Amino acid sequence: MRISNGVAVLCGLTTLAILPCFAAIPSGEKPTMKAVVIHAYGGLEVLKLEDVPQPEPKEDEILIRVIAASVNPVDAAIRQGYLAQIIGDKLPLIPGMDAAGVVEKTGAKIGKFKAGDPVYAFFTLASEGGYAQFVVAKESEAALKPKALSYAQAAAVPAAASTAWQALIETAKLSAGQTVLIHGGSGGVGHFAIQIAKARGAKVIATASATNQDFLKKLGADQAIDYRKAKFEDVARDVDVVLDTVGEDTLKRSYGVVKKGGMIVSIVDDPDQATLDAHGIRGASIRSSPKANVLEELTRLIEAKKITPIVSQVLPLSEVAKAHEQIATHHTRGKIVLQVADEPKR
Ligand SMILES: NC(=O)c1ccc[n+]([C@@H]2O[C@H](COP(=O)([O-])OP(=O)(O)OC[C@H]3O[C@@H](n4cnc5c(N)ncnc54)[C@H](OP(=O)(O)O)[C@@H]3O)[C@@H](O)[C@H]2O)c1
Repeated sequence: MRISNGVAVLCGLTTLAILPCFAAIPSGEKPTMKAVVIHAYGGLEVLKLEDVPQPEPKEDEILIRVIAASVNPVDAAIRQGYLAQIIGDKLPLIPGMDAAGVVEKTGAKIGKFKAGDPVYAFFTLASEGGYAQFVVAKESEAALKPKALSYAQAAAVPAAASTAWQALIETAKLSAGQTVLIHGGSGGVGHFAIQIAKARGAKVIATASATNQDFLKKLGADQAIDYRKAKFEDVARDVDVVLDTVGEDTLKRSYGVVKKGGMIVSIVDDPDQATLDAHGIRGASIRSSPKANVLEELTRLIEAKKITPIVSQVLPLSEVAKAHEQIATHHTRGKIVLQVADEPKR
């Protein structure tokens, strides 16, 4: 695709990726980029692939040339307007909680990164997202990309793995020798949670449907439960920590499996204080947030081969609607990633 004012943004679409093809931009003209934009909340049809102005990094920001961006369940919720009260009147918006790419430009106050650095980043709900050829991030939201990973694999990490880390390590303070029950162990957050818990030296019990039982084991789960065939409370007893990524009935049935003094951390629901008290356990509901130190910790674990992101589908940006359709099923294995540009040659 070529833009008539002489700013060449895209040269072509392949089945795998939108190929960037930048030409000289006439001086005085603002560079544009391809991005998925939502102008009104609604169904899949509100996801529009458009040409929009490239963001300009502020002094405390880096501009990232996005190679890949991941798709998270919250992206579909935002699109449908369920988070309108939290994010405020932000339309039009570019979705996407995380991305991996190359630093294109740095603001004056940036000391940690330089142009050309391979990075990955986790954005706040208030910022523009990763479904674009360029995105800005604060230094506190980004880290160097793990070297061994492709950009598509790296893009799968920031939001989901940070959430797993913040739930298990920062909130539940999971330690070696403890037992954790991870609900939804095959999903974006759950598959990282299993690996993080194992790297911590914990015993892991994880739930998923029949098709994901082997997957849970491969991720390191000591015990896999098919939640459709068995009641997890008949199998898991006296656990130290429950990570709840499912909510409602799953949360309600989880209080009784935690040993006294143990903890339930939910990323989807609010544990009931009276029920927690009745069981002599603690509970927390968390909303994860971008933290560079957590991303750096994840980079170390990935480089030590303790964690591997599993990407079940890579789709071009032009197939964002298909990605949203899939993520809304709540039955995605690992992560879905949008390939925004070709992977640079290694
Ligand atoms: N609070 C936060 O900061 C935060 C951050 C990230 C995500 N979240 C939320 O956490 C939830 C999970 O996120 P995600 O990215 O991991 O989602 P996801 O990638 O869609 O994964 C969902 C997984 O849950 C499994 N599952 C579905 N129903 C289940 C049940 N009844 N019992 C056990 N497992 C079940 C599915 O496995 P099967 O296909 O085998 O059923 C699937 O692998 C979403 O609601 C998301 O919005 C919250």
